[in-house]
Formats: sequence, C-alpha cells, structure tokens
Amino acid sequence: MKYSRYLFVFSALTALFSGIRCSSSPYIQGEILYSNFCESCHMADGSGLGAEIPPLAGADYLQNNPDKIACMIRHGLSEEIIVNGVTYNQLMPGIEVLSDVEITNIVNYINQAWGNNYSTVTLGEVRAQLEACKH
Ligand code: HEC
Repeated sequence: MKYSRYLFVFSALTALFSGIRCSSSPYIQGEILYSNFCESCHMADGSGLGAEIPPLAGADYLQNNPDKIACMIRHGLSEEIIVNGVTYNQLMPGIEVLSDVEITNIVNYINQAWGNNYSTVTLGEVRAQLEACKH
C-alpha cells in the first residue's frame, strides 16, 4: 500500500519533469547541433563571416526561403544568393549525417535564435521538403 503510493508520486513527478524536458529539448537540441555543425562557419551569434559566409541572424534569405533550408542543410548550396543585399557565391557543404528530426530542430533553432522571429517548421514539412530534393 505504502509502496504503491510512493510509486504514484514518483511516476507523477517523472511525468511532470519529462513534460518540461520535452517542451524545451527540441530547441536545446537544435542549439547543440548548431554549435557542432554550423557555428564554425556562421559563428555562435549567427553573424557569418564577412564576404565569405552569410549571416543567419536577421537574414532575409532565411526568412524568405523557408522551403529551401532543410535541403540546403542536407545537400549543401553552391549558387549565387543575396542575403541582406550582399551577394554570395560560395560553397556550403551538405551535412548528410543529420537526421530529419535533427534538421527540423536546427531549422527551428536558427529561426528563433538571436532575435530572429521567423516561422517554425514541423517534422512533416521538413520530411516533404527532403523527399522533394532527394538525389
Ligand atoms: C563550411 C562552412 C559552412 C558550414 C559548416 C555551414 N554553412 Fe551555411 N552557408 C555557408 C556558405 C558559404 C553559404 C552561402 C552559400 C552560397 O553562396 O551559395 C551558406 C548559406 C547558408 C544559408 C542561406 C543563406 C542565409 O544566410 O540565410 C543558411 C540558412 C545556412 N547556410 C544555414 C546553415 C546551417 C543551419 C548550418 C549547420 C547545419 C550551416 N549553414 C553550416 C557555409 C557554411
């Protein structure tokens, strides 16, 4: 009897904490993945690197091309693009080890970090984009 009461309290607490963890962890996973896979080029504050690497913080390209970002992360990008009025024609390598879920979390992180207030994407939307640009 006593034991089952403890069990109840324990599972209630576990449910509570895992609920809290679940609601914040996609953003945190996105942040960790960003620092592992993107930060070396785009910088921790998303400011990019001069004429070589475009910024993500405050980037109009990121805001205006939500349907392209997942494919760009997986397959890379090497075409002329204009970000905040500056033309870039560089190479971003694709990162094929990232799963669909990880890409979703990274996209949502960069869309909300550094004061960006860009729309978020769902896993379903990212999967549809990745399916469409599959090689
Ligand atoms: C090796 C350096 C490098 C890495 C690593 C890298 N990028 Fe890029 N990224 C670039 C370059 C260079 C461009 C511009 C490509 C072009 O000119 O076609 C770019 C372009 C972009 C753009 C579109 C332009 C803009 O600024 O809005 C986004 C979004 C982006 N990168 C996000 C990411 C994310 C997210 C990651 C990590 C998953 C990442 N990049 C990793 C170099 C990199």
